[in-house]
Amino acid sequence: FENPKIASVNVAHRIAALIKSKQANNAPAVLGLATGVTPIAVYAELVRLHKEEGLSFKNVITFNLDEYYPMAPTAVQSYVTFMNENLFDHIDIDRNNVHIPDGTLALEDIPAFCLEYEKKIGDLGGLDIQILGIGRTGHIGFNEPGSAPNSGTRLVTLDDLTRRDAARDFGGKSFVPTKAITMGIGTIFKAREIILMAWSRKKASIIKKAVEGEISGDVPATYLQLSENVEFILDAPAASELT
Ligand code: F6R
Repeated sequence: FENPKIASVNVAHRIAALIKSKQANNAPAVLGLATGVTPIAVYAELVRLHKEEGLSFKNVITFNLDEYYPMAPTAVQSYVTFMNENLFDHIDIDRNNVHIPDGTLALEDIPAFCLEYEKKIGDLGGLDIQILGIGRTGHIGFNEPGSAPNSGTRLVTLDDLTRRDAARDFGGKSFVPTKAITMGIGTIFKAREIILMAWSRKKASIIKKAVEGEISGDVPATYLQLSENVEFILDAPAASELT
């Protein structure tokens, strides 16, 4: 796409079309959502569609990819705060339909929580669309290098580069949590449609590796090459190293 704005509007309209087609059948639309800079304009367009064109989110059920651990939901850096500010506070979604990994759990309660997260998605028939960004390590969700292709939702350790990239939000790398709870690559793979977005020159080299590189746990996004249901939505600078 020519620029991130046009690309984001396109993605938002596809999500809106899914929501409406599910509404027509009285069925829920089950969305897998991402945080970070990349999807902000998608959420802004969804909010506009709600406010100006009456798009309702009453039948929408969401599952976010990840949350830092530990993390209080009220913290400014939490993904709960991010989602509220960028989407949920501005639409008519039922808050009971919003799911974000819980950064406040006791360590011993995390495995059961993760299994339950997977079960909830499964019981709904799986994710209709999963939105992804990509980290400079090649992570999707917080599946860092070394993640297994069949991994499920779990507690992970963040890569040093990921923590450096997050340092600005936290006022220094030392304040960035070392861990996160993330959906696994296996969880993401079960989505009926996967849309990975990336903007800017900063993402060009990891996009080249993800799309054209050898499939390997060293760059977890390369596993997406094995999916029939994945699309990369890029602006020209992010696509600039592709052959
Ligand atoms: C966020 C997530 C991450 C980000 C990735 C890119 O929920 O799962 O994989 O998508 O780190 O972040 P941005 O968009 O800030 O460049």
